[in-house]
Amino acid sequence: MVIARAKRVRRVPPYLFAEIDRLKAELIAGGADVIDLGVGDPDLPTPPHIIEKLAETAKDPANHQYPSYSGMNDFRVSVAKWFKKRFGVELDPLREVLTLIGSKEGLAHLPLALVDPGSLALVPSPAYPVYYIATMFAGGEPWFMPLLKVNGFLPDLNAIPTEVAQRARLMFINYPNNPTGATADRDFYERVVQFAQRYEIVVCHDAAYSEMAFGGYRPTSFLDVPGAKEVGVEFHSLSKTYNMTGWRLGFAAGNREVIAALGQIKSNIDSGAFNAVQWAGIAALEGDQRPVDDMRRTYKERRDILISGLKKAGLHPEVPKATFYVWCPTPPGYSSRGFTSLLLSEAGIVTTPGSGFGDPGEGYLRMALTISKERIREAVERICKLDLKNPPSK
Ligand SMILES: Cc1ncc(COP(=O)(O)O)c(C=O)c1O
Repeated sequence: MVIARAKRVRRVPPYLFAEIDRLKAELIAGGADVIDLGVGDPDLPTPPHIIEKLAETAKDPANHQYPSYSGMNDFRVSVAKWFKKRFGVELDPLREVLTLIGSKEGLAHLPLALVDPGSLALVPSPAYPVYYIATMFAGGEPWFMPLLKVNGFLPDLNAIPTEVAQRARLMFINYPNNPTGATADRDFYERVVQFAQRYEIVVCHDAAYSEMAFGGYRPTSFLDVPGAKEVGVEFHSLSKTYNMTGWRLGFAAGNREVIAALGQIKSNIDSGAFNAVQWAGIAALEGDQRPVDDMRRTYKERRDILISGLKKAGLHPEVPKATFYVWCPTPPGYSSRGFTSLLLSEAGIVTTPGSGFGDPGEGYLRMALTISKERIREAVERICKLDLKNPPSK
């Protein structure tokens, strides 16, 4: 029997990182010493007090049953407290906060709640691929907003045609940004709120990297802008802040209608996050925050080593104020894929082609700072040895 995949699945290209993982595995199998600057998955361990809370609460039979669909009240109260302390924003924990099984889960389900077949979602490009793919899974069409260096890698809202804005139901934005490392200020969020109000578009701000910022810079919340809660929600993740990518814990916060709509979808698809993981999440949000400072210091040191090394190699990387990504233009004559292939085959370095995040990412590559300083130094030495002056003819 031929197993035919649904059309919505056939339209989707292979998941970017699955392809990179395959190439990396091939090289390693061939005996290469591969340095992985590809996927953004923290190499540092989860702080011990969070692990201890999981171990303790995993033993309690009360936590072995189905969790609540929208998340434990205690966790949502803890989120509201953290939000108030961190951003000065008040949230009703039970109506304006929803626990997620990692923020990817919520981002991927949101279009099912808001986007009808035939309607549009405004999606940045380059971007985390989940936004446009989830839009397509919901039967909607992504309309790509290019993130260009001339605009500080922010979408140009004036460049969105009126007919497009009128058909759009949802707009995704993400700052600090993956993959460009760009940040946004209040002025941008205010313009987004005005735009959303004018065209009645729900805003989904993905703030997965809100805590990963350097040199005293602390990103603001989109929800801190007047009117934001009337138009949108913000997605947060414990993954990167507390080195908890494997634990799968995040939350959505903001507009209660949007939170309820997403909750409705989720209650028909999943059964919530493991309570013990949510207890550990409370320990993360309310406990000692020094590990977060250490995390910022570590990534800043790594960033500085990589940036200065890339400059020595004749490249001109963007210097990110936040995120653990370095967005670097390819040398003259190299495409994104051409340069990432060269780095892989000639230097054993895995990077991600900018074009994999969307066409406007062509001419860039992304490097993740999720390996040790020593390995970053080694990567830089290997890059410096390459002859980048003689690009392939194409
Ligand atoms: C921009 C962005 N949003 C969301 C996520 C998902 O994070 P998680 O599902 O682990 O919370 C990622 C993960 O890499 C990301 O880069």
